[in-house]
Amino acid sequence: LSPTIRQLLAHPPQPEQTTTVSGWIKSIRKQKNVTFAVITDGSSFQGLQVVLVKGKDDNLLRKVTNGASVRITGHLVSSPGSGQSHELLVDQSATGEVVVLGECHPETYPIQKQELTTEYLRDNVHLRARTSHIAATLRLRDVLQRNINSWFETQGFYYTNTPIITGNDAEGAGEAFRLALVESQHPAATAQTTPIPPAEFFSRPAFLTVSHQLHLEALATALSRVYTLSPCFRAEKSMTGRHLAEFWMLEAEWAFPSGNGVHGISDLTEALLKETTQTVLDSEDVAFLWKDGGPQKRKVLFDAFNKQKPWARMSYTEAILELAKIHPLVNFVHTPLWGQPLQSEHERWLAETLVGGPVFVTDYPAPLKPFYMRVNPDEKTVACFDLLVPHVGELIGGSVREERVEVLTKKMEGIPRSEWYLDLRKYGGAPHAGFGMGFERFVSWISGVDNIRECIPMPRWTGRMLL
Ligand code: 4AD
Ligand code: MG
Repeated sequence: LSPTIRQLLAHPPQPEQTTTVSGWIKSIRKQKNVTFAVITDGSSFQGLQVVLVKGKDDNLLRKVTNGASVRITGHLVSSPGSGQSHELLVDQSATGEVVVLGECHPETYPIQKQELTTEYLRDNVHLRARTSHIAATLRLRDVLQRNINSWFETQGFYYTNTPIITGNDAEGAGEAFRLALVESQHPAATAQTTPIPPAEFFSRPAFLTVSHQLHLEALATALSRVYTLSPCFRAEKSMTGRHLAEFWMLEAEWAFPSGNGVHGISDLTEALLKETTQTVLDSEDVAFLWKDGGPQKRKVLFDAFNKQKPWARMSYTEAILELAKIHPLVNFVHTPLWGQPLQSEHERWLAETLVGGPVFVTDYPAPLKPFYMRVNPDEKTVACFDLLVPHVGELIGGSVREERVEVLTKKMEGIPRSEWYLDLRKYGGAPHAGFGMGFERFVSWISGVDNIRECIPMPRWTGRMLL
């Protein structure tokens, strides 16, 4: 493969050498004797400025329009203009060459130069990665994933792959999509018996996983430290900018955690986020994405990544006290009460107003949390945390897992029994802990991109799936 524009600019060849780049025309400005164009191949935020000196075949230039795909040969020289280190000088009367590989109709091309609305780009989801914003977000996803993988490697974790199709609704929250056979392939369809049973996986019910946690626990009680970054599916009808029907979750589980309970898990996630983000915050892509994000919001984010300043921690009980204190002044829609879930208005107030940064809220009442969280000695709360961050709300949920088989068996009463899950405790049960982080919410927080639908290439949410 020939070098991408990013690679060329990182290691520019000598100017006397010819250089060929391929990509799409991002902008073009034709003057009398020279044409300026910017070409991008998506490899970096900066495209490459191309200077086309008027040549023999200027007819060809008519096809060099916005969005056209081209292969251009010229000489990469230092640029006299500001804003770019190099430009490609193309003299078609000498060694220069412009080849139009794919024409693009300038009037009907959906990605026009002027500002395009978010909603319009969602309708053109197949083309929107050609815009600078979406392309920058996709490169950010890539870098964050690479950094996360390296970080887990340094901590002795194994990256693993757990199933998408599961026999249970992991959280018991009833948000799972159920699998159905294509009707024509269903035995009942040929036998002409109606109604066709709703769903099955070789005659048993099956779901798309809502979380990989339970399967990761099986692997953590063998490999000790495991994680995955995998798709998760939730059939929730939420229309917020924080919920997708298909999203990616970073989940880790590890056996033999430090004796520090929920604080040990918080320490680990804080280190993970701080250490995987340092270089990213200074990147061109993040600087560009934050241009519209607001300087104050951006400052709050950058302050959060100061390694000297540990993130705030408070118990659910303390959080409720703070919320109740302020309630008469701010009038929350939902009155904060011990035993009730924190609503997003509460979460935002805690992170944005009270703390002004990320905050770990720990030890929620047991009935608010799933069965697998370890019961605290007070027998009312569980050893868990939610990490709340400004402008996003809940970013991570994690807990010490209940490893005591008798306690767990009792908590699972009424839940379809998963013998295999109890076996993990029955046979060499080990203390273990874990967490899950919505990857799109992480990208949204780091980039300042408000809605997570713009933090994934092809979003699926309530009622929306265009391709
Ligand atoms: O809080 P949740 O539901 O926790 C679990 O699923 C645990 N089993 C995770 C674990 O401990 N391994 O989801 C975890 C995170 C949330 O904090 C949120 O960031 C994200 O996943 N999340 C979503 N992100 C986008 N769209 C949705 N519909 C999401 N639902 C949860
Ligand atoms: Mg949660």
